[in-house]
Amino acid sequence: MSFSIKNICCIGAGFVGGPTMALMAKKCSDLIFNVVDINKQRIDAWNNKDLSKLPIFEPGLEEIIEKTRNKNLFFSSDIECAIASADLIFISVNTPTKTKGLGAGKSSDLKWVEASARQVAKFAKGHTIVVEKSTLPVRTAEVIESILNSTDSNLIRDKKSFSVLSNPEFLAEGTAINDLENPDRVLIGGEDKQAMHLLSNIYRNWVPENKILFTNIWSSELAKLTSNAFLAQRISSINSISAICEVTGADIREVSRAIGLDTRIGSKFLDSGPGFGGSCFKKDILNLVYLAEFFGLEEVAKFWEEVVNINLWHQKRIAKIVVEKLFGTISQKKIIILGFAFKANTNDTRESAAIRICKDLIDEGAELIIHDPKVSPIQIEADLQIKPYITYNEKSKSFLNNNAGGWRYSKDLDIFDDSHAILVLTEWEEYKNIDWDDAAKKMASPAWIFDSRSIINLDLVKKSGINLWRLGDGSI
Ligand code: NAD
Ligand code: UDX
Repeated sequence: MSFSIKNICCIGAGFVGGPTMALMAKKCSDLIFNVVDINKQRIDAWNNKDLSKLPIFEPGLEEIIEKTRNKNLFFSSDIECAIASADLIFISVNTPTKTKGLGAGKSSDLKWVEASARQVAKFAKGHTIVVEKSTLPVRTAEVIESILNSTDSNLIRDKKSFSVLSNPEFLAEGTAINDLENPDRVLIGGEDKQAMHLLSNIYRNWVPENKILFTNIWSSELAKLTSNAFLAQRISSINSISAICEVTGADIREVSRAIGLDTRIGSKFLDSGPGFGGSCFKKDILNLVYLAEFFGLEEVAKFWEEVVNINLWHQKRIAKIVVEKLFGTISQKKIIILGFAFKANTNDTRESAAIRICKDLIDEGAELIIHDPKVSPIQIEADLQIKPYITYNEKSKSFLNNNAGGWRYSKDLDIFDDSHAILVLTEWEEYKNIDWDDAAKKMASPAWIFDSRSIINLDLVKKSGINLWRLGDGSI
């Protein structure tokens, strides 16, 4: 049978589906890409003429969307039509941690993957290659295959057939376009050699041959979980050492640099910060933990679970330090939060350290003013599950008679008046250029800066007279 790929469907127009298909459409102008989603609002946002209103902020994305959208890249809610016309379908839907039932709190909730597979089983025509793009527990391909092949009578009547492959995505948010354009590797797992070859041909349009890796399907699924577990483990390791630095007089930046020069360790992913966030690390490690427990590997499970536990401990540790430095009480003290996204250059807040830390500070009665250049106040409210202050008085620049602790949002940085402290949680570029002399004049005294991202200029802050605490710096 001669089978070629001309038409591609991606189920899920999220942080992975959107940018990945956009980049593929740019690199493969002879192929058609239909990105579909059950979330109509998201699809409308992808189709918004105003490119600044795309649902995802990702450097370089707007330019690619401008070049490809409605040429060979289409965003739509017509899932049936997109599946029916596709030769290859990427499943790129969300796979969050289960919140109830068997495996709750650890295993992935596969209901969106299962629903996608059922849609594919129902609407696909002829032969279709189905590719797992979502990050999935090992052996999920089996589930997808059994759903696709369960409607036997349909298969015979409509002459449907399927090949299932695993092709996990390794992009990181904030650098997604560059990661997609210059991947360290593209991983394709499967058994059907022809299908694997056809999928690799798409990537060959821009990825060098030696970076395309073929494995069996289970290795591919497990490699994705392992990759995220190793990366997260590095961050928990360096953050744990930052706590030792603070009590011993060492400086975590110097320690990171020194160990990173060992080529066996390498210098990447050694920046101590407020604790890893993002939608992937915690979820994927817990998935690994669940898998190990399922197979009776208790010690393996405990080993990986500690990476997540220490991350939470570290986030709580930062909130505690702020309270301690401000004389043990932050009730009704005004604290400026710089950054709410889980890292710079994204509007994503999923699992952001800022959520835990802000909640803890609000619990202690603090009045937070939260700034982030890309995260909306609606998103912050959804994450904190606390309504913003409505009793904020713009004139006196203070909250009115409220002992409970709370927050409000600011879209600009003219917010330092009468503040007791500034806490840097996201490494946005614009926070590096704040005029600290000017801020010092406006802040209450003694004023504090807590820098959890090591982006603030030490000398300029010292000159301004503001007290500085830096994560992992025992030397100041
Ligand atoms: P997301 O929540 O941003 O997007 C998923 C989209 O799928 C949503 O818009 C949702 O409405 C849609 N969807 C769910 N069920 C559907 C269905 N049956 N039909 C059509 N649309 C449906 O998630 P994401 O961040 O893009 O992640 C997707 C997958 O990729 C996850 O498994 C994640 O672990 C993995 N991943 C994410 C990243 C990342 O940086 N975000 C990186 C690598 C891998
Ligand atoms: C991660 C993986 O990097 C990517 O390969 C995978 O596909 C999805 O999960 P992402 O979560 O988007 O990507 O961002 P990443 O750059 O990995 O950062 C994750 C978290 O770790 C962020 O909160 C970041 O601030 C933190 N981090 C990262 C550090 O604290 N220090 C570092 O040195 C690197």
